[in-house]
Amino acid sequence: MDSSVTSTELTATATGTPRIPGPATPYQGDIARYWDGEARPVNLRLGDVDGLYHHHYGIGAVDHAALGAPEDSESEKKLIAELHRLESAQADLLLGHLGDIGRDDTLLDAGCGRGGSMVMAHHRFGCKVEGVTLSAKQADFANNRARELRIEDRVRARVCNMLATPLETGQAAASWNNESTMYVDLHDLFAEHSRVLKVGGRYVTITGCWNPRYGQPSKWVSQINAHFECNIHSRREYLRAMADNRLVPQAVVDLTPDTLPYWELRATSSLVTGIEEAFINAYRDGSFQYVLIAADRV
Ligand SMILES: C[S@@+](CC[C@H](N)C(=O)[O-])C[C@H]1O[C@@H](n2cnc3c(N)ncnc32)[C@H](O)[C@@H]1O
Repeated sequence: MDSSVTSTELTATATGTPRIPGPATPYQGDIARYWDGEARPVNLRLGDVDGLYHHHYGIGAVDHAALGAPEDSESEKKLIAELHRLESAQADLLLGHLGDIGRDDTLLDAGCGRGGSMVMAHHRFGCKVEGVTLSAKQADFANNRARELRIEDRVRARVCNMLATPLETGQAAASWNNESTMYVDLHDLFAEHSRVLKVGGRYVTITGCWNPRYGQPSKWVSQINAHFECNIHSRREYLRAMADNRLVPQAVVDLTPDTLPYWELRATSSLVTGIEEAFINAYRDGSFQYVLIAADRV
């Protein structure tokens, strides 16, 4: 993508995905390329289970009865279905914190990936959902899924920088980041959410953050940053950047104990990517936390 483009005029990709200039910095260009090239089985095979494609992790207790015995010829399939159930449970929890959303409302999914959370939001509330991602491949994928589900008039993804979205001021009843805040400066991000949210609207994020009680990012956190080319923020930075941008926390939930079973199960699967040990160690030594923060736009 051409990072020198400054016009906000809409163009379209080969598959008709509305596209506006995305990356504004060389780093964002790297992230766009990363997600354009991403096709890990741990994401795609889980999405194939029911057509909801996520790029985030899971929460909740593992249903060992659903996994069956290791010698079961279907055991791999059952494990994939169980990991997918846990990642959809994560998105369900996030959506449950968005407040009362009606059919006429518009929601913003900032860093929407392949669109699994957007589809779930539309099915739950009947509302419109606008998603933005730096990756043209992801936006095409999400829009193709919306067309297959015949909800393309209600759910759409655009290639765009979430720090400067095409949404109008006050247009969104609620907005969220599902594991996508570690790619941006939090003050810039929350300024944009604050702009697009109506007063009284709700913002929700689920994210990994380093724990200020530990002191500084641990070696495991640094390993995760290098693996994903991202910059994990501390819990303190989230709360400070929200406070500076008219976002007042309504709930802060530590999901660390709820996400460990997902990682421990994933580490036993054939879908391992090599980063599982870093996540498990970081959560266990207290240097890293998986949190949900819901905030009111005041
Ligand atoms: C880990 S994936 C999460 C995807 C999705 N939220 C989900 O839960 O499946 C991170 C996403 O953040 C997006 N992203 C990162 N930086 C961005 C930016 N500056 N503007 C828009 N999207 C961005 C990536 O393109 C990718 O879609």
